[in-house]
Amino acid sequence: MTNHRLIQAIQGKAVDRTPVWLMRQAGRYLPEYRKIRSSVKDFLTLCKTPELASIVTLQPVTRYPLDAAIIFSDILTIPDAYGLGLSFIEGEGPRFLNPIRSEAALQKLPQIDPEETLGFVMETIRLAAKELRGKIPIIGFAGSPWTIATYMVEGESPRHFSIIKRMMYQSPHLLHALLSHLSETIIAYLFAQIKAGAEVIMLFDTWGGVLSHPDFLQFSLNYMKNILQSLAEKQGDKAVPIILFTKNGGPYLSDILNSGADCVGLDWTTNLQVARKLSQGKVALQGNLDPATLYAPKEEIVKAVGTVLEQYGNGSGHVFNLGHGMHPDIDPDQVNILLEALNTLSPEYHSERSDRL
Ligand code: CP3
Repeated sequence: MTNHRLIQAIQGKAVDRTPVWLMRQAGRYLPEYRKIRSSVKDFLTLCKTPELASIVTLQPVTRYPLDAAIIFSDILTIPDAYGLGLSFIEGEGPRFLNPIRSEAALQKLPQIDPEETLGFVMETIRLAAKELRGKIPIIGFAGSPWTIATYMVEGESPRHFSIIKRMMYQSPHLLHALLSHLSETIIAYLFAQIKAGAEVIMLFDTWGGVLSHPDFLQFSLNYMKNILQSLAEKQGDKAVPIILFTKNGGPYLSDILNSGADCVGLDWTTNLQVARKLSQGKVALQGNLDPATLYAPKEEIVKAVGTVLEQYGNGSGHVFNLGHGMHPDIDPDQVNILLEALNTLSPEYHSERSDRL
């Protein structure tokens, strides 16, 4: 599998064209997803039913020529496994019955063994891997400790971050204890995903960008670095590549590039050319088409794909993706336009032996 285009590109080895997958490639914009989704009680039930979650994982790669399948799950499976009473309210997003806002609540937080409590994710990976038979790699993932904590403390999708930032400034030790607890779980969870067959790992730091620079380093990046280091130690020589994505992380890019991640995901507010210069060829880059581009007419999509490729420039080390998740109201045919454009335009950026290093 290490000879697959996606992994080769992350390693900076020569590829025939730019590999591509799309954040939230499985989901509500696909009619085949909505069909399966309507057959179960709710979204979490779908995540916890490996027979269905594996089918949903494969739906986008059956429909489109994508270079990876991301496992169908959610970053909130961990706090759900802690027993915080997670539900997804239609149209409103996640809600926790028991948010963590005190020392007492934190003390009650269980240590979990992901192999057991989150075994359904590993089973989903195994089932999807069986179907894929090594054709393309499976991406396993987790949220960053900071990002998962924002949901656990705020109790819902964070808007102003007042509750967690109040904790950060009034009781930093409490937040640090929560972030350490989460980090331990995430390390064990990702290692279990790798053992089950995930060949690439992605860390979603969706809310790192709401922190000041020093707070980002202290409360988000440091914990992610610790995860990267622990996973590297646990795996030895045959470590799988890890992609780190901090939404709105552009201002902290040099720190993120030096975190030890193999690939850094960028949203559309960062110029890929600038990012590539900063990376000095040491770290691969993923991104960064604005997902809203998919609302545009064909010529505009083709142009925007061309611009992303032109910004990155010649050679390997680039994984094409959106800058954030696919919107649920995108017409699935628009994705074909993106992929065809990439297929037509990207080979010329790989025409000579143009290794990144
Ligand atoms: O990318 C994929 O195709 C894999 C699946 C995936 C989902 N969530 C499925 C999902 C992944 C990688 C995630 C990650 C995730 N989940 C993140 C980090 C990435 C990001 O978008 O920044 C976050 C912050 C979450 C938390 C979450 N999950 C929220 C806030 C919501 C509700 C939002 C909404 O649109 O309703 C979810 C639900 C969710 N996760 C859905 C899907 C397909 C929609 C559920 C449904 O079918 O109703």
